Amino acid sequence: MSDKKPLLEVNNLKVHFNIKPRQSWPWSAPATLKAVDGIKFRLYQGDILGIVGESGCGKSTLARAIIGLVQASAGEVLWLGRDLTRIDHKERRETRKDIQMIFQDPLASLNPRMTIGDIIAEPLRTFYPKMPKEEIKEKVRAMMDRVGLIPNMINRYPHEFSGGQCQRIGIARALILEPKLVICDEPVSALDVSIQAQVVNLLQELQRDMGLSLIFIAHDLSVVRHIADRVLVMYLGKPVELGESRALFEHPAHPYTRALMSAVPVPDPDYERNKQVQILQGEQPSPLKPPSGCVFRTRCPLVDDNCARIKPLLEGNDRHRVACLKVAIEQAVGECDK
Ligand SMILES: Nc1ncnc2c1ncn2[C@@H]1O[C@H](COP(=O)(O)OP(=O)(O)OP(=O)(O)O)[C@@H](O)[C@H]1O
Ligand code: SF4
Ligand SMILES: [Mg+2]
Repeated sequence: MSDKKPLLEVNNLKVHFNIKPRQSWPWSAPATLKAVDGIKFRLYQGDILGIVGESGCGKSTLARAIIGLVQASAGEVLWLGRDLTRIDHKERRETRKDIQMIFQDPLASLNPRMTIGDIIAEPLRTFYPKMPKEEIKEKVRAMMDRVGLIPNMINRYPHEFSGGQCQRIGIARALILEPKLVICDEPVSALDVSIQAQVVNLLQELQRDMGLSLIFIAHDLSVVRHIADRVLVMYLGKPVELGESRALFEHPAHPYTRALMSAVPVPDPDYERNKQVQILQGEQPSPLKPPSGCVFRTRCPLVDDNCARIKPLLEGNDRHRVACLKVAIEQAVGECDK
């Protein structure tokens, strides 16, 4: 059990969008798309939380709701105890010093008309308008060096850089204000496999050196396994499993997590030969018409009648929790609901 106060506490967070169906009568009511539906976790200083799940399960929407780029429909995002869903524009701007984001497509997230020096310096100029030009330049050059870019390239433009270098520019810009939390939304999925490891290692190094906390969103479970202390698995906007990385990867409990994991190669030939591959059956249902009860039931090998009637809650202990009616995780004594 930890006495530390969490940096970030997300409580029952929901982001629901009202969608007008394409083929509908003008007077018909919009449908509700529950992109994020009841997410709850805590993040402590220096921790890395991995978030995984298939495309469309709500990972980016969750990230955007935490940082305030999309309005939460319900729930809380407590940053050092303060609810970010209820703050005004000015206060939100202040929190951007502490919480930064790195996006999936490095080139698209950089302004093509700005030099990389200006791109990296932009947050400094915004938050510290009185900082002398020379000091800004010095900080930018030091940060470029820190992320593995040659400082002499400060006057070049984004299109002159490779994908991996562009992501290093994005990382430099995110870190220049020395934030406490960086949300990385699939930061390596657009990069060549050979470059992915370099960028992940860089993020890990920076996280250790600067005492950062990271939220690391990825499709690729092997990347998350490598980097995260804790992992949240999402399906159709809901949390299906949450736990310490080791507990979750060694003993995946939810049938969905098991299916995702059985597709990840492990660098152990004996394990690979003997492992039972569980292929994920069927398609992900439309988020506009999620199944009743457990949202995973239409693809679950363990499904029974109860699964259509009862919504499973995330239950277990502070190391590991699962939302399934048929798989339980032992309750720990003195649970702290981490
Ligand atoms: N602004 C919006 N308006 C309506 N629906 C949205 C909006 N943003 C996202 N959605 C829907 O919310 C769901 C979750 O989308 P989101 O982009 O968060 O998923 P994701 O897990 O990040 O997927 P990917 O792995 O492909 O990036 C999707 O069904 C998406 O179509
Ligand atoms: S609640 Fe039922 S359908 Fe859902 S994961 Fe568990 S067994 Fe499968
Ligand atoms: Mg996404």
